[in-house]
Amino acid sequence: MSLLDAATNVQSKAYAPYSNFKVGAAIRGASGAIYAGCNVENVAYPEGTCAEAGAIATMVAAGETQLTEVVVIADSPLPVSPCGGCRQKLAEFSGPETVVTMTTLEGNSKSLTMAELLPGAFTQAHMENS
Ligand code: THU
Repeated sequence: MSLLDAATNVQSKAYAPYSNFKVGAAIRGASGAIYAGCNVENVAYPEGTCAEAGAIATMVAAGETQLTEVVVIADSPLPVSPCGGCRQKLAEFSGPETVVTMTTLEGNSKSLTMAELLPGAFTQAHMENS
């Protein structure tokens, strides 16, 4: 299965009764395995989680901590852009050249690297004096 197919399949499973905005994310681990996640909202709104966070949790639970590629999909007029928090979460497990493809269900797609999505990312290097 392709990363896009995995993201598309999981997008339909999203639990988004409050925003009605269903998001699917699929990431490829360094092993080549695919991990998928969807957004899971909550009546206490801040407790909701993003699709990217779900996919990352699944990858880490499977024992992988490096990802090589990401696809995010939603029924959106524009390619869906990961939120700031998810950019930082993805940065934890990727590199500056890792490509994130953002797409709509209609196939309006855009790819950016992590360095483009999160320039000046906070990394472990900033804590080297501590
Ligand atoms: N959302 C994601 O899951 N990923 C993104 O990249 C953008 C936003 C979710 C969070 C919330 O459930 C809904 O979309 C509306 O913000």
